[in-house]
Amino acid sequence: MVPEKIQKAFNEQIMHETFSAWLYLSMAAWLESEGLEGMGQWMRVQTQEELTHAMKFYNHILERGGSMELLAIEKPPAKWDSPLAAFEAALEHERFITGKINELMSLSIKENDFASKTMLQWFVDEQVEEEDNATRNVQNLGMIGGRGQGMLMLDREMGQRTFVYPLAVASPSSGGE
Ligand SMILES: [Fe+2]
Ligand SMILES: [Fe+2]
Repeated sequence: MVPEKIQKAFNEQIMHETFSAWLYLSMAAWLESEGLEGMGQWMRVQTQEELTHAMKFYNHILERGGSMELLAIEKPPAKWDSPLAAFEAALEHERFITGKINELMSLSIKENDFASKTMLQWFVDEQVEEEDNATRNVQNLGMIGGRGQGMLMLDREMGQRTFVYPLAVASPSSGGE
């Protein structure tokens, strides 16, 4: 069984992670419309990663016999003042998500729910990586100043990112880890 409070909070986190996917998908479209296909590709990969985050919470609830109550996803912005502004918004959003993960960790400790505590440790580590990536993107764009050959090179480099589906997110019935 999954404790009631944990189930409710995880259901909310599924919404936050799905909103993250929605936000980054919107950023991908806007960046591509600005001619920055590589940065758009980076955000497309990030979108897929966020969906796997939502699925980790989803699978955890179902594996423990909990019930699912999917919530409404807010509409993300459709445009930003500059690529730098978009990546700054992404960093700000990841900091918000880190706060949510920390709240969930506190709750799992308060509820003595060790199963969710173990699962949340993965997210604590993941958020370190997410903030690091988001910070680097902001720094790189800041250095370039949003113009010229540097922008072209950064766009090409970011376009190399590919998505690898993590085994750990496979559904319980598929025998994944
Ligand atoms: Fe996430
Ligand atoms: Fe990540």
